[in-house]
Amino acid sequence: MDHFIYKSGVLHAEGVAIPDIAAAVGTPFYVYSAATLTRHYRLFTEALSPLPHQVCFAIKSLSNLAVLKLLGDLGAGMDVVSGGEYRRAKAAGVPGDRIVFSGVGKTREEMRLALEGGIRQFNLESEPEMRALSEVASSMGVTAPVTVRVNPDVDAKTHEKIATGKSENKFGIPIARAPEVYAEIARLPGLRAVGIDVHIGSQLTELEPFEEAFTKVAALTETLRAQGHSIERLDLGGGLGIPYTRSNEAPPLPTDYGAMIKRTVGHLGCEIEIEPGRLISGNSGLLVAGVVYVKNGEGRDFLILDAAMNDLVRPSMYGAHHDIVPVIEAPAGNPSAAYDVVGPVCETGDTFAKGRGLPLLAEGDLVAFRSAGAYGAVMASEYNTRPLIPEILVQDDHFAVIRARPSFDEILGRDNIPAWL
Ligand code: LLP
Repeated sequence: MDHFIYKSGVLHAEGVAIPDIAAAVGTPFYVYSAATLTRHYRLFTEALSPLPHQVCFAIKSLSNLAVLKLLGDLGAGMDVVSGGEYRRAKAAGVPGDRIVFSGVGKTREEMRLALEGGIRQFNLESEPEMRALSEVASSMGVTAPVTVRVNPDVDAKTHEKIATGKSENKFGIPIARAPEVYAEIARLPGLRAVGIDVHIGSQLTELEPFEEAFTKVAALTETLRAQGHSIERLDLGGGLGIPYTRSNEAPPLPTDYGAMIKRTVGHLGCEIEIEPGRLISGNSGLLVAGVVYVKNGEGRDFLILDAAMNDLVRPSMYGAHHDIVPVIEAPAGNPSAAYDVVGPVCETGDTFAKGRGLPLLAEGDLVAFRSAGAYGAVMASEYNTRPLIPEILVQDDHFAVIRARPSFDEILGRDNIPAWL
């Protein structure tokens, strides 16, 4: 459920009419609903209660400071994967003891940054990384809390670019090697194992792969405990999918996911951490764009928008579907059309949808891409020297620009022409 609904035929974000935002900031822009973000975060905390737990929002999905502050104030922790994301979490006021650090290529500088600023745990992904972290922590006279991300060799049954739990993927340590790795951690001076981590992929639309992975993690917990390791926490990653179409998709709900977690690992007495991104942010955001031209091509009509693949890359990168809706609802019985919905970027891949059924639209009309809150703004680029687009946060009947559109002076000013040219 989200808070983007039509009122008197006009699409609203909570109590704010989308055309009012467009008039204030111009198109295209992203708009997020505070009520939806809050609701989705709470679904997880409710689903995991009464188990001791910490929901760590995967900020790679949506990392605007205002959103992080909103979620952090509700009690959310953060899952970060770079020094930049760590800085964002801290800048939003999230305490270090609620931040987990994931990612296969953490540098020594990033390790130092997190150890200085405070960290709940590092999720280790390889033995070289484990040894590097022990050295860094020892040189600072501290002990780093760690989990090992195990690769359970489970098929997440999702898009191949976002599946991470098969043995051929670059992530984690093969689960069979975990006892060896935990034994080495126990010998290393700078590390203290606190738990186990697993994340098998993103946009999972079935519970079964999670269940298979978590069952393996439960067995590993018992094995490691029998070998004398203290396993206090299980970080079960993110990955629960969302419906991208209104009609035919029904991924499991957070309540079902929570019940499955209780069933598979609830008996172990561990604190449960999860790292959801998309389920919290995805349906909390729209991308709003304006129609630049309607072009009648050979046997097809192109709806040329002012948003492009650089603003929302998911359709061209993963072939992802986003529902596209008119901001002003067409009266019932009005004619409709099938459009190839495209952006102005100079490549054919800049196509959002082909033959998409929409009401007849004209220059200046507004459309909204649904489910654009996750992996939208964060994956945007300035390709074709198109400025990053604004982000807007709505709460009740008011909105704020939470990231402004940069000026061309700022964009061009980042380049430098050396004196010798
Ligand atoms: N934890 C780890 C270690 C991850 O790698 C990810 C996502 C998450 C948590 C959050 O997963 P979520 O709950 O959002 O599924 N750009 C792609 C998605 C990439 C996901 C990468 N890792 C897309 O647009 O579909």
